[in-house]
Formats: sequence, C-alpha cells, structure tokens
Amino acid sequence: MIKKCLFPVAGYGTRFLPATKAMPKEILPILDKPLVQYGVEEALEAGLTDIGFVTGRGKRAIEDHFDVSYELEHQIRGTGKEKRLDGIRQLIEQCTFSYTRQSSMKGLGHAVLTGRNLIGDEPFGVVLADDLCFGDAGSGGTADGEGVLAQMIRLYHQFRCSIVAIEEIPADQTHHYGVIAGEALSDSLFRVSTMVEKPAPEAAPSNLAIIGRYVLTPDIFTLLEQTEPGKNGEIQLTDALLKQAVDGGVIAYKFAGRRFDCGSLHGFVEATNYCYQRFYGETDPPTVARFDRSR
Ligand code: G1P
Repeated sequence: MIKKCLFPVAGYGTRFLPATKAMPKEILPILDKPLVQYGVEEALEAGLTDIGFVTGRGKRAIEDHFDVSYELEHQIRGTGKEKRLDGIRQLIEQCTFSYTRQSSMKGLGHAVLTGRNLIGDEPFGVVLADDLCFGDAGSGGTADGEGVLAQMIRLYHQFRCSIVAIEEIPADQTHHYGVIAGEALSDSLFRVSTMVEKPAPEAAPSNLAIIGRYVLTPDIFTLLEQTEPGKNGEIQLTDALLKQAVDGGVIAYKFAGRRFDCGSLHGFVEATNYCYQRFYGETDPPTVARFDRSR
C-alpha cells in the first residue's frame, strides 16, 4: 500500500508577486479553496494519508491551514458558516501532516531528496500543487471522476515502477517542462526510454510533457544523491528519473482528465473559470452584481 505523498512547497512563486510577497503561492485560492488543499484532497482520494511537505521560509500559513483554528471555530460555532470548514476538517481528521525545511533552493530533485526522512524506504506520490488536476467527470466509476493520482496508483500496482503523468503540449512549449519519449504500450501508456528537462523545441524528443504528478520508487533518493546539477544549475528530478528509465523503470501515463498550470496567470484564470462552471454550474465568471455572497 502506498500511504505517503510529498508536496514540495518551498518555491517563492515569483510569477505571482506581489500577491506572494507575504503569502505562500500554494495558499492562493481557486474560488474559495487554496491550491494546496485541492492537491491534498487528490492525494487522500488516492488513499495517501501521510502528507509530507518540503517547506521553506515564509510558508507557515500552510501548516496553519492544515490545523484546527480554535478561535475561528469558536466564533462561527452554531452559525451557517460552520459548514464552510467541513472539507478542511475532514482532511485534518483523515490525514497526518509532517514538515521538513529545504533551506536552499536547488531544484525539484533537491526538494524531493530533502523529503527523504519523511518518506523512508517505500514508494510514494509527489504532487506539485501548482498543477491543478481534475479527473474526467464520470471516469473511474465516480460522478466527480477518478483523480489523477488515484489513476496513477492503480498503474503502480500493475507495473511496480515509477509512474509520471504526461500530457501533449504545443511544440513551442517544451522549454517549460520535462519531456519524455519511449515505447508506446497503449494509447495512454509509454515505457520511457529518454527524458530531457526543459529542452528547446528542436532538442525535444517529443511533445509529451511531464506534469506535476509522480509515483516514485524509493531508489530515486540514492539516484538523486548521485545526480549532478543539470538544467539551470539545479538538481533535476527528471535527470534522476532518466536513470530509472534506462532500466525500464519509468512508465509515462497520459491521464484521463484536465490539468491547469496555476503557476501562470493564464492557467490560474482558466482554472478559476473551469471550477466555477464545474462546481457551481455557472458558465460565465461572476460579475460583482450577480455574485451571491453566500458562495
Ligand atoms: C517541474 C519539473 C518538470 C515538470 C514540471 C511540471 O518544473 O522539473 O520536469 O515538467 O515541474 O509542472 P518546474 O515547473 O518546477 O520548473
């Protein structure tokens, strides 16, 4: 059973300054819920209840979010507002939360390696909260659709190796992503043979980009220890995964669902409109006049 999920959340979120000057980017809300809460809900749905955060300076609001707020609860007890905390209360009851700090930013690979003590010697999930993912409605036999991590955990039990989520991207966007190539096992599955971190379009092995969901086998930690700084002078998770891939140890999965790059303004707005439609059944973004304050 996979129980643990790592959330690297130490990054500064410079693309959202000044909003992220005093607030972690993971706390920015899509509608009324912080981005990171969507990620933890996805992990819990996949059965991952041991949540580990690799945090950094200025990220304490994340710890407070996943804890009880006695004063607030006391204030709203018995009022209609209480139910607004139901979702986060359930997460707090069903998950455990652990934290470790990444004191210097040396890349995603370094962040994952920093989380080693929280994970130990077992397979685990990784969620990059900037990438907001929703399963296709109705997939996996549930009305809301099976989440992307849950889909990947099923694949892990089939293949018993690392699984990365991928999606097709426009050819001129490869420099934003890790890009894979490999043998197609089906329409949605590839046995990865090569992967490159943020290649220029002419150097990209395909248009299949890794998005921020991983299931990793624990040998990744030793491989990360042995990984030299790569693209942008950072220790890249992609480079360590490539070492697993040469032994056939990485499956790339085109998931059933949608993903929004909430690390960009465009993706953030798109996600907001999508969620408003999906969760409130509204097709247009709210105007000030129409907005129902109880929502
Ligand atoms: C990271 C990974 C990259 C992956 C991306 C997905 O990059 O290094 O391989 O494609 O996440 O969001 P970052 O966006 O942190 O620069």
